[in-house]
Amino acid sequence: MLITKIYTTDEIEKAANELCLGELIAFPTETVYGLGADATNEQAVKRVYLAKGRPSDNPLIVTVSSRKMVEEYVESLPERAVKLMDAFWPGPLTMILKIKEGALSKAVTGGLETAAFRMPQNKATLKLIESAGVPIVGPSANSSGKPSPTTAQHVYHDLEGRIAGILDDGPTQVGVESTIIDLSSEHPVILRPGAVTVEQLEEVLKETVLSDKHKVGMKEVPKAPGMKYKHYAPDAQVLIVKAGDWDKALLWRKNKQERVGVMAFNEVLKNADLPKKLSYSLGDTVFDASRRLFAGLRYFDSEEKVDFILCAGVKEAGLGEAYMNRLKKSAGNVFFDKI
Ligand code: TXA
Ligand code: MG
Repeated sequence: MLITKIYTTDEIEKAANELCLGELIAFPTETVYGLGADATNEQAVKRVYLAKGRPSDNPLIVTVSSRKMVEEYVESLPERAVKLMDAFWPGPLTMILKIKEGALSKAVTGGLETAAFRMPQNKATLKLIESAGVPIVGPSANSSGKPSPTTAQHVYHDLEGRIAGILDDGPTQVGVESTIIDLSSEHPVILRPGAVTVEQLEEVLKETVLSDKHKVGMKEVPKAPGMKYKHYAPDAQVLIVKAGDWDKALLWRKNKQERVGVMAFNEVLKNADLPKKLSYSLGDTVFDASRRLFAGLRYFDSEEKVDFILCAGVKEAGLGEAYMNRLKKSAGNVFFDKI
């Protein structure tokens, strides 16, 4: 078993060195922590799947520190990509682009003719990639199926002994993974909602951006392969509570034999008569809630074992769309008012 070392942001060179040796290093981004490996080293990339327990047909994001790095893998950058890079990079937007044949190994692309590129807004990680001199793959650094990690401690909890190190830059700011936009076909399509919203993308592209809300069955070949798998699921059953249902939900909790944790906004928590350990604040805004969602789900799994988690739903607009997308997956789409 490996000893997983925690690197501070003063030790970026050492971490970069490990990447160059083919080791796995988790890294911070503004969204969630990623699991890095040299994207040009097929053996290293294969170990990412093993460490995460990730199905091997689920391709990886290629994390870059400059636009130039992307240019090495594509015939030419589509105009749309240039516009979006100007507007949102570095930032929480991943773009799916057609790549030159064989430019990246099958272990990265899952055999697709496209790859996902992202330049995160985190100085330490941009420096890490620059020092390594190669793009790094960057799936979220959790065990497959579990909520994505928003702190170095979350990564350590899931991957200790399986990776060489973690570059620790404190908790992430956005908390939900990047928006994924597919620019490889005729029309731009959002494959995963994130902090960069449809409205923002349409404003920059000056055209309609489709969002793919179709259900993806296990037998189809989905556009974002990762979306078909069970995701963000804690051990407890999550129940989504709509704003008007809290009185009922808290009463239900009180009468329940099993242990029930509550993830709610301060406004609700301040009037709820709850044991402190069983309540987790989502803060005051959708921004706070997105930042805290995964940490809350993890809290109730690892520190306060509960059977159910009541968690606040929000309006599916703006960042609320990304928040609800992740919450619905973690709850298997179960709402409190439907049980
Ligand atoms: O914010 C994020 O994007 C984080 C941080 C660490 O950068 N990364 C992340 O990676 O969320 P991951 O692997 O957990 O999610 C990437 C998603 C997966 O659902 C995968 O199937 C999809 O992107 N994907 C990767 N390459 C693709 C491609 N060529 N076409 C369509 N979807 C792709
Ligand atoms: Mg993930």
